[in-house]
Amino acid sequence: MRQMLPWSKFGPSRRRVLAAGLAGLGTSASVLASASALCRAAEAATLRKLAAEKGLLYGTTIAATQITGDRPFADLVRHEANLVVAENEMKWQVINRGAPNDDDYAPADTIAHFANINQLVLRGHNLLWYHRTPYWFFDLTKRQQQEQAVIDHIRRLAGRYRGRIHSWDVVNEPIEPKDGRPDGLRTEVFLETLGPEYIDLAYRTARDVDPNARLVVNEYDIELDAPEHEARRVALLYLLEGMRRSGTPVDAVGIQAHLTAVGGPPFSAPLLRRFLADIASLGLTIQITELDVTDEKAPADVAARDSLVADTYRRFLDVALDEPAVKMVVTWGLSDRHSWIVRRETYQTKWRTDDAASRPLPFDADLEAKPAFDAIARAFAHAPQRQSG
Ligand code: XIL
Repeated sequence: MRQMLPWSKFGPSRRRVLAAGLAGLGTSASVLASASALCRAAEAATLRKLAAEKGLLYGTTIAATQITGDRPFADLVRHEANLVVAENEMKWQVINRGAPNDDDYAPADTIAHFANINQLVLRGHNLLWYHRTPYWFFDLTKRQQQEQAVIDHIRRLAGRYRGRIHSWDVVNEPIEPKDGRPDGLRTEVFLETLGPEYIDLAYRTARDVDPNARLVVNEYDIELDAPEHEARRVALLYLLEGMRRSGTPVDAVGIQAHLTAVGGPPFSAPLLRRFLADIASLGLTIQITELDVTDEKAPADVAARDSLVADTYRRFLDVALDEPAVKMVVTWGLSDRHSWIVRRETYQTKWRTDDAASRPLPFDADLEAKPAFDAIARAFAHAPQRQSG
């Protein structure tokens, strides 16, 4: 039988239930005492608090337009998270106006300011990502020009937020074994001209600019039991070992963990445990950086779907949080109201083939907690204590 935890009774719509419970209670002293116990239980159930009790950080993406235009959502972020990360606003192509050294930091500043006034930890995502590099950079064919542009960009971006960033994804998604290189590195714009040394250049520059930020290698499709995931794990460990050997400054691995409730590769607990232990044995910490669960092949029925999604969160987190080197869990959004998966349904390939909107995150589009919330809360509550990092 599943253990009942205090927040279970606040369930998928705990705030609604709490309000109704309080309204029906009347006003005697004992009733007021139980009302305040209910309030404390509800307060205790925030993800930020449950995570903090175990030495973990829990965070979510946020967008500047959500801070300025969706107050209830921003309030929920403040309530549930102790860390935020810009979903897009710190990406080079997004910051850049289309010419070298011509940047607009206003949206990124909005997010940094939100973190600052609410005393939230700020993650930096990201300094280099082949997929969000300004178009003009692709026309730089000389090594020296590219090198200088990379250095200038990292100096400006990491320099602007120096001392305020907990961790930077310095290079995002550097691995792609399908590109056929023996080292498994992705053959993209930086590598083509600068060679694999671009990685060392980026991490050294970042360390130099903001010595207190943890420097992260962030990668996807490395958590499951499939040949492609295995190839990516091998390549990533090879890269990390090389960085350690040559003294390239690196502190942590970011495991994106975009998971699939039904129809994805199988999950293997022993395999994930071993991979996390391998990373930890290199003296690195681990951050779960982009957790969400797509439900495109799950049945349309909402209750059935929510339970499959919650189960996927639970399976993954139960194993991940057993590893003390894991210090952070970030979901790629907090509410289905603002999820790249739901957005992609409206402008790209649909993830679901029926008309049902995806439900990948802990809160639904009305900001009510879902079974996925309970699964994450339970995983935090059951996680072993660790030193924060
Ligand atoms: C995604 C954003 O969520 C989308 O809004 C944007 O259109 C594309 O990028 N891996 C990453 C993230 O490292 O930056 C991506 O974010 C999701 C996949």
